Amino acid sequence: MLYALVVLGSVMLAEFTGASTNASAVARQILDKIPGDNDVNISYSQDQYIFHVKRTDGLTVLCMADESAGRRIPFAFLEDIHQRFVRTYGRAVFPAHSYGMNDEFSRVLSQQMEYYSSIPMLIG
Ligand SMILES: *[C@@H]1O[C@H](CO)[C@@H](O)[C@H](O)[C@H]1NC(C)=O
Ligand SMILES: *[C@@H]1O[C@H](CO)[C@@H](O)[C@H](O)[C@H]1NC(C)=O
Repeated sequence: MLYALVVLGSVMLAEFTGASTNASAVARQILDKIPGDNDVNISYSQDQYIFHVKRTDGLTVLCMADESAGRRIPFAFLEDIHQRFVRTYGRAVFPAHSYGMNDEFSRVLSQQMEYYSSIPMLIG
């Protein structure tokens, strides 16, 4: 897992990049493509990567992973991040400021990306 972000509505709250790619630019294009504000679980492939997106109650968590990571582990990651975010900030995120949680929460993204990236090796 190489990149992740958390967006509320259209406000970027936190992101973390594990490698120098243009993931951030591609992620923004993908977010623009997802219509409405209903809940979604969706995956887009782009070059050799897959962008997985989970939106629940207006809070969107996205990650970029290798194709080899499959779907189950990235979505477990997204669900985990969603729950950690809600547990940490609850409704206190309103009003949301751009990158408002980045200092604290990019560290959580980084740690959990590392953890979920190691799962295939643990079971494989
Ligand atoms: C990101 O990089 C890939 C491969 O290097 C390229 O195909 C794609 O057009 C780039 N996307 C953006 C939004 O820059
Ligand atoms: C997204 O996935 C979660 C967890 O598997 C599920 O509870 C939820 O109903 C799904 N939402 C949609 C819109 O498919």
